[in-house]
Amino acid sequence: MQHVDGYYTADDYMATWQPEMAPAWLDHVAAYAGVAAPRARHGAAFRYCELGCGLGWSLNLLAAANPEGRFVGIDAMQSQVTHARSVARAAGLENVRFLHCTLEEATARRLARCDYVAAHGLYTWISDENAERLFALANRVLKPGGLFYLGYNTEPGWSALRPAQRLLSELAGHLSAPAHGTALHGALDVLEALHEAGARGLPVAGQAASMLARLQRSPGAYLAHEFLNRCWRPVFVTEAHGRAREHGLDYVGSARLSHRRSDFVLRRAERAIVDAQPEGALRELVRALCLGESFRSDVFARQPQRLSPSRAWSQRLRGHFALSAPRRAIVYEAATPAGRIRFDKPAARAVTRALEDGPCRLRSVHARGGRRRCTDGDLLEVLDALLCATLVTPVDPRKTAPRAPAMNALLRRAVASADPGWRGIHAQVGRHGTASRVAPLDLVLMEAAPAGNASVAAIRRHMDAAGLEATPGAADGEDEAAALRKGVVGWPSRRRLLRALGIV
Ligand SMILES: C[S@@+](CC[C@H](N)C(=O)[O-])C[C@H]1O[C@@H](n2cnc3c(N)ncnc32)[C@H](O)[C@@H]1O
Repeated sequence: MQHVDGYYTADDYMATWQPEMAPAWLDHVAAYAGVAAPRARHGAAFRYCELGCGLGWSLNLLAAANPEGRFVGIDAMQSQVTHARSVARAAGLENVRFLHCTLEEATARRLARCDYVAAHGLYTWISDENAERLFALANRVLKPGGLFYLGYNTEPGWSALRPAQRLLSELAGHLSAPAHGTALHGALDVLEALHEAGARGLPVAGQAASMLARLQRSPGAYLAHEFLNRCWRPVFVTEAHGRAREHGLDYVGSARLSHRRSDFVLRRAERAIVDAQPEGALRELVRALCLGESFRSDVFARQPQRLSPSRAWSQRLRGHFALSAPRRAIVYEAATPAGRIRFDKPAARAVTRALEDGPCRLRSVHARGGRRRCTDGDLLEVLDALLCATLVTPVDPRKTAPRAPAMNALLRRAVASADPGWRGIHAQVGRHGTASRVAPLDLVLMEAAPAGNASVAAIRRHMDAAGLEATPGAADGEDEAAALRKGVVGWPSRRRLLRALGIV
């Protein structure tokens, strides 16, 4: 089995897009925490570096959405860097480049100072030595006030699965399949058989059981890169934050906006215990234990500039947001780990009404909101709920993105690609500094019914021609024809949202 510095490199990772890495999203996390964003104003030039960029999709999408930014991706796998470069070339992107080098080699290179550094899925899969290099590089590359995004595996979520992880990697070591991901599905079957036989050392109740079920459904490429590294080690949040601090990186906040508000996600008794802890990493740890966290997306800053409370308040209101779902489909409630939150309030409806025609500043909802007035406080309160329910996203103001159409055409074609390096990015680049998730069926509909007038038969023909056997996006067990009919009927309202985002 091939490894670089203990990291599994025999097969490519899967194609992924991380919306939390967008500059607008990271700026929003900073604003929420009362920290100045690295970009002095929208439209100003900025630099962005991703360490361990994999197939490079996140960076390529961000480069297409932000022509004023310069992006660099670093990865130890030549095949992935070649893929990332070929996507950038096909989309005509000139503001992104990909370097084939390890963290150790990158440490010895001259790298331009950046406003943003990101590392998603790297820290807790590499050796301790490389983890040190990762934090040291982030500190060295970031400008003062720059933001560092870190996505990593955490405890306690993985603790019950440790025996399973060890078994998977040992079993895979005995399998010489050319694609180890396929072998890992076989190893998962062994695990399941052991569980059914009542093996006492494999606790698979509750959260661990649902994580195992998720693993069974995961692509082989994910399983291989998750489990076949010599240094798989989820960490507690205190360890990650301590290490960041040692490298001059202060914790700013979580990029996981759905989990940000304790009163939304923790039960009353849990909240009382969490709130009684001193603010900082210890409180985060107690919170993580309540939530059973298995992955964190944290944002840190190098020499953060703290804003006064009044400036922080005004910065939050000046943020731009976009709808993530058609307004007609919105239900003003959401399931959270603590139960349900309900926010069907005039302010929430005013926000979604204002965003229906495209992204706008939160504060400008007052001007567009119709007869009912709401206060700034009302807007900020319902914004938290809308973010928790993933109904809105932080974005940049509208801008030109000349390479977006070429990138979007590639992504629409990729939905039917046989190449796993292309398949799976169900997104389109907008004119708001980021890309939006678009269901696979809608990617097909954009090609087959660009004017919005789709007939089910025509869509079926288009899908057959594209070699799509099942309805992309049909839920498990849902009748395919019914899913297709429902999808086609709702297309005009979803298309309206895409138009508001400048995608169609
Ligand atoms: C799980 S993948 C995540 C890729 C990407 N960030 C994403 O979210 O799709 C981790 C990536 O880190 C790269 N990597 C691992 N060890 C590395 C090292 N020492 N130096 C540079 N890249 C490394 C791997 O090649 C792999 O592409």
